[in-house]
Amino acid sequence: MKKQNVVRKGLLRSALVLFLLLATASLFGQTIGDVTMDGQVNIVDALQIARAYVGLDPTPYNEAYADTNCDGTVNIVDALQVARFYVGSIDELCGSTETETPTQTVTPTPTTTPTAGTAEPRVDNPYVGGTLYVDQVWSEKARNDGGAAIADIGTFLWMDRIGAITDGIGLRGHLDAAIQQGANVFQVVIYDLPNRDCFALASNGELRISEGGMQRYQTEYIDPIVEILGDANYRSLRIVCVIEPDSLPNLVTNLDDPDCAEANGAGGYVEGIQYALDQLGTLPNTYCYVDYGHSGWLGWPDNYSQALQVIGNAIKGASKGVNSVAGLVTCTANYTPTEEPYLKNVSTEVIRQSSFYEWNTYVSELPFAQAVRQSFIQNGFPSTFGMLIDTSRNGWGGPDRPTRAVTSGSNDQIVDGSRIDRRTHRGNWCNQKGGIGERPKAAPATGIDAYVWVKPPGESDGVSTADFEPDPNDPAKQFDPNCDPNGQSSYGDGVLTGAVEAPHAGRWNTLHFQMLMDNAYPPL
Ligand code: GLC
Repeated sequence: MKKQNVVRKGLLRSALVLFLLLATASLFGQTIGDVTMDGQVNIVDALQIARAYVGLDPTPYNEAYADTNCDGTVNIVDALQVARFYVGSIDELCGSTETETPTQTVTPTPTTTPTAGTAEPRVDNPYVGGTLYVDQVWSEKARNDGGAAIADIGTFLWMDRIGAITDGIGLRGHLDAAIQQGANVFQVVIYDLPNRDCFALASNGELRISEGGMQRYQTEYIDPIVEILGDANYRSLRIVCVIEPDSLPNLVTNLDDPDCAEANGAGGYVEGIQYALDQLGTLPNTYCYVDYGHSGWLGWPDNYSQALQVIGNAIKGASKGVNSVAGLVTCTANYTPTEEPYLKNVSTEVIRQSSFYEWNTYVSELPFAQAVRQSFIQNGFPSTFGMLIDTSRNGWGGPDRPTRAVTSGSNDQIVDGSRIDRRTHRGNWCNQKGGIGERPKAAPATGIDAYVWVKPPGESDGVSTADFEPDPNDPAKQFDPNCDPNGQSSYGDGVLTGAVEAPHAGRWNTLHFQMLMDNAYPPL
């Protein structure tokens, strides 16, 4: 063979290297693409290549088998090739069989440049026809703790601090994995406002209004997230964003708390949320749902009407006004049942007068979310306005679940005997003994865009002891007395918190995960 020029020489050298590589591969019975060396080429290999690409140090991972398109470099396209191979859209990876000659393996192919995904026209409900990204990191933890039955369910990815954008496989790694999975819905929680979690302590955040937190929220948090989400490679994804859990609801009911009062002013929650909506709204494929607490919080008539004003106006003040959002989300990380089947047979008077419901109009999320949507539409929001309900932990199955309505006795006996919500007080929010709820489902009821899993089951709501080591990722997180398994709930007289032992908010809790699995409803 004539050595014509330098490029040709380079190619020959690559051919030689590849030939040696293939020879070694076949020597050990390995196959190109099988970077985990487990004898199979599957989606895990794709993920490991992606992880290596974003600078992680995955194990097991053998880079010698990672150049799956044989272009002489290992990059994200190789991960994509494995994913394509895995789902059957290509028949073989280059050099995956011993019959190929080295010359064939170095033939440059036009498939080596990542192609930008195709944008689709905006849809009304992003969940209809949606395939959810399965968070690989959560999924692995769930599977390892006996959660195989739910490990392939799509959960939200929480961007809960600036560092979360890049740490681990980072936002990009997850987006790449979503593309590899063939998903078209990517769900992310925006959660880093200054003075975050102003009324509680468990999820206090890294930014403070008094320390220039709004500036950092915008430039170090929202802007980089929007830049990544805006990458042309992710255009085929419908990006569903849940905006700042608990923030605006705290401005409705908790302004007597100094932290919340500050968050109600300049550089606070409203400004931050409007900025987030405006920036995310520059992307054609984002669908934002603003957090709306839950029925056990905003369901009383006075809170209900105030919330419509406060939260409605916050959204209307964003650049696109009533069109700045796809809708609202309720029950984020809470335990309120989607429906209370047996209370449907109990009179409204009895329910309202019971100690547990304290005159609240709503005992469950579905009717609350539907009513809120109607009220928003009456207040000028479009008819396409939709609701999400976080059902990840509101199942309340298990041995203590009532099976019928109790029909006689005092109001409390009737209500307490009939309700599936087994909490000691409806205000309790920390690490409750609930169960996995309805699986994510598109358009499950009128006005509801989807049941979703915003809170990934198994992740803690807050550390359970006052004597804690700070979380190195999030040193602002504190012990909230409502997370003390032996402490009194701050919401009712003389009732316990109902919390189980747990690590810091967001950290994995095997005990709680398994309890949620055991108490799943519908059962798994
Ligand atoms: C809590 C934590 C946060 C975590 C989230 C989801 O709000 O503060 O860090 O990401 O729960 O588990």
